[in-house]
Amino acid sequence: MARVHNFSAGPAALPTSVLAEIADEMMDYRGCGMSVLEMSHRSSMYQQIIDDAEATLRRLLNIPDNYRVLFLQGGATLQFAGIPMNLMRRGRAGYVVTGNFANKAYKEAAKYGEAVLLASSEDTNFDRIPNMADINARIAAEAAGDGLDYVYICQNNTIFGTMFHELPDCGDVPLVADVSSCFLSQPLDVERYGLIYAGAQKNAGAAGVTVVIVRDDLIADGPAFAQTPQYMDLKTQAAKGSMLNTPNTFGIYVCGKVFRWVEQTGGLAAMAERNWAKANLLYDLLENSELFHGTTQADSRSIANVTFRTGDAELDAAFVAGAAEHQIQNVKGHRLVGGMRASVYNAVTMEDVQALATYMKDFEAQQSLSPRSN
Ligand SMILES: Cc1ncc(COP(=O)(O)O)c(C=O)c1O
Repeated sequence: MARVHNFSAGPAALPTSVLAEIADEMMDYRGCGMSVLEMSHRSSMYQQIIDDAEATLRRLLNIPDNYRVLFLQGGATLQFAGIPMNLMRRGRAGYVVTGNFANKAYKEAAKYGEAVLLASSEDTNFDRIPNMADINARIAAEAAGDGLDYVYICQNNTIFGTMFHELPDCGDVPLVADVSSCFLSQPLDVERYGLIYAGAQKNAGAAGVTVVIVRDDLIADGPAFAQTPQYMDLKTQAAKGSMLNTPNTFGIYVCGKVFRWVEQTGGLAAMAERNWAKANLLYDLLENSELFHGTTQADSRSIANVTFRTGDAELDAAFVAGAAEHQIQNVKGHRLVGGMRASVYNAVTMEDVQALATYMKDFEAQQSLSPRSN
């Protein structure tokens, strides 16, 4: 079996033990004579699978009883619309735009009401999280003025490699966070949020499942707009246990296995420690390198997505092409930033990161031995 060092930003590496368990159960799930792919979502066998996934996630994140856990479809992208559809009751919400996905959510919300731009880091190509004191002051002013239904952030910016290291102070205004690329990377205090959501394909499982965790009272009155599609109505989805229609049965099963793996390998505090050790190995290397440079400001660095470049597009391309010879895959940066990106999610091992670090050092040494003639 030849597995590569996979630094994909998502869909991303999964724990090998989880993959092996899935393979084991493929022909005959625990003696029932069929695979999970073939099982009715209305069967008691499947109900156990989804209940177990939810229960494990509740333990991991210490989710209070007044929060609902949903496993939906449509990716994180569908929630860009789902959030205003459900929560924009007075028609006004604040957005902090820290990258491409936050910007998409902001634009989508503007279709449903007034999307107030609270802060943005677009002026420096999203290389940082805007000043938190300024964000907090703006939230307080808006809340005291025309009011806000919620404050929206994208907590970890997958493309740009930045993350919020503290949460905004929203007072009584619910905080909504897209945590797609930092979900289960580190402990998270659910009670600080009104709604959290994450596409599963980074740290939580396979593509096709979006985990939504929402506080009861925010959905108690149903969606904010009468024409909201039934599927997008979080109150109905909660009442139906994410089974208004056929859910992504296999995807939820994979999530359940990943949640158990996180629990068995030490839980979220241990994940955070390992993740920072991996990320910091690369950040330290970048600080000491003459060739490679990080693309984010130091106080905004992501736990999961390490972005860097040489400053020379051809050299970046040579680095990415050469990586494949070392079984290193998916290190090309997103086109909006260029350069390289290494995503070091939970299932990426320290050995994977060490292999990348060694390749980076060797590549740099080679450049100084034989600098390209320009
Ligand atoms: C932070 C973040 N939000 C949203 C998305 C969009 O997710 P999806 O493709 O599941 O709609 C992504 C995808 O990479 C992401 O990283």
